[in-house]
Amino acid sequence: MNSAPENLSSAKAELLPLVAVVMGSDSDLETMTPAIEVLEGFEVIVEVRILSAHRTPLEMVQFAKEAKSKGLKVIIAGAGGAAHLPGMLASLTSIPVIGVPVQSKFLSGVDSMHSILQMPSGIPVATVAIGGGLNAGLLAAQILGTFQPDIHKKVSAYRQSLHDQIVKKDKKIIELGANTYLDQMS
Ligand code: RP5
Repeated sequence: MNSAPENLSSAKAELLPLVAVVMGSDSDLETMTPAIEVLEGFEVIVEVRILSAHRTPLEMVQFAKEAKSKGLKVIIAGAGGAAHLPGMLASLTSIPVIGVPVQSKFLSGVDSMHSILQMPSGIPVATVAIGGGLNAGLLAAQILGTFQPDIHKKVSAYRQSLHDQIVKKDKKIIELGANTYLDQMS
């Protein structure tokens, strides 16, 4: 079950989010949705927020300052362009921050990636691929799984399903040959 601040009853604690998925704009939501969905699929409660390092900096600071006392264990932060949100959150809290570079209009997300990736020594952000919302959600679940066996089991089952899908495809391509396999894909 979810761990929570000591002054909260365990019944209430079960309803507390363990992960926050934060984004700089609602235009990032499509990229961040796979993170939310995969976590909710593992029955992890997720807090979702729109907080901008540039447009709502004070709200961002308040969120970061309260994150630990609220019981959050991981923050996933997505932003595009001059993507300062993940790094700023990481500077304000010691809760692990996973950064998601959102694909941007003019530079295809390379700007977002560099902004999130190139953190100074001492303030890490675990950066996933451009558009890597799903992996961000999975990484957060893996972190939770180190101290919550039920989440670890669900992540392991997910991994097993990936394995089984590839084994099935391998058998099929051996049986059909590449050309017929390709025909059946279209
Ligand atoms: C960033 O600016 C956001 O993270 C978003 O990716 C980008 C564009 O924001 P909008 O102009 O779509 O609100 O802060």
